Amino acid sequence: MDSSAQVIVAQISDPHVVEHGELLFDRIPTNAHLEAAVRCLASLDPRPDLVVVTGDLVNEGRPAQYRELRRLLEPLAMPVRLMCGNHDDPVGLREVFADHGYLGSEGPIDYVVDDVVPLRIVALDTHVPGEPGGHLTATQLAWLDARLGEAADRPCLVALHHPPFATGIAHMDEMGLTEAATEGLRDVVSRHPQVERVICGHLHRTIARRFAGTVATTVPSTAHAVALDLRPELTEGASNAEPPAITLHLWRAGIGLVTHTRTIGDFPGHLFGPPEH
Ligand SMILES: [Fe+2]
Ligand SMILES: [Fe+2]
Repeated sequence: MDSSAQVIVAQISDPHVVEHGELLFDRIPTNAHLEAAVRCLASLDPRPDLVVVTGDLVNEGRPAQYRELRRLLEPLAMPVRLMCGNHDDPVGLREVFADHGYLGSEGPIDYVVDDVVPLRIVALDTHVPGEPGGHLTATQLAWLDARLGEAADRPCLVALHHPPFATGIAHMDEMGLTEAATEGLRDVVSRHPQVERVICGHLHRTIARRFAGTVATTVPSTAHAVALDLRPELTEGASNAEPPAITLHLWRAGIGLVTHTRTIGDFPGHLFGPPEH
C-alpha cells in the first residue's frame, strides 16, 4: 500500500431535523445547524471519503422531516450513510431515501460499508419502536460476529446510535442500550481485535471509554448538546448551546486510526502559520 494512503470517515450525529421552516421545540434551529455542519464538511481539504450519520436523523420520524433532511444533505459530494436513532422511523426513512439501497426494505437497518478501503464500517440498528432506549437482538449480534469474522484483516468501526456503556449522565443512562445487548456486543467485539472503535451518537456530547478491548465513543450533535450534569440523582436533563461539532476518523498508513473533533463555525485569528482550510 502507498505509504501516503489514507481514508477519512466523517461522523455527524443527532441532527434532529424538523419540517422545513420549523424550529425544534419552537426555539432550536436544528435545520440551520445541519446546514452549517454540511458547509463545514464540504469545506474540508482533504475531503472526507464518506459521511456516516449516527442516528436521530430527524426528531419525530415524519416523512416531511426526512424530506428536509434529504434537502439539507444534498450539497455533500461524498457518499452519506444514514442510521436510525430512537427518534427515527425506518418506514419514513426508507420511503424518502428509497435510492439508498443499503437501508433495505424490512427488518433492522444493519449494513456494512465496504468502499472506504482499508477501513470497514459495520452499522447496527438499535432503534426499538416507541422506546427511547436501544436494543440489539441475538440475530443482529450473530450477524455482526459473522461480518467481523469475514474481514479480520480490515480495521473496523462498529457504529450504533446508543452507546454500549453508562455515561454518568443519569437521565441519558436511563434510555441506554439494554444490558443484554451491551453484554452481547461486548462478547462479539472482544473476539475481533480489528475493531478500532465503537462509534455512537445519542448523548450529544463527546464521551469515551474502554470497551471490549477497544475504544467506544459518543460524539456531539450537529445541533444542541445534552448539558454536562453528573449528579447521580439527576432525573431530568437539559440541553444547551455548547458549540456543535463534526468528528473525523482518519486512517493513514503508518499511523492507524485517530479520531478528531472539529467544532463547527468560523474561527479566525490565527496566531501563526497559514490559514486553516
Ligand atoms: Fe439525539
Ligand atoms: Fe437518541
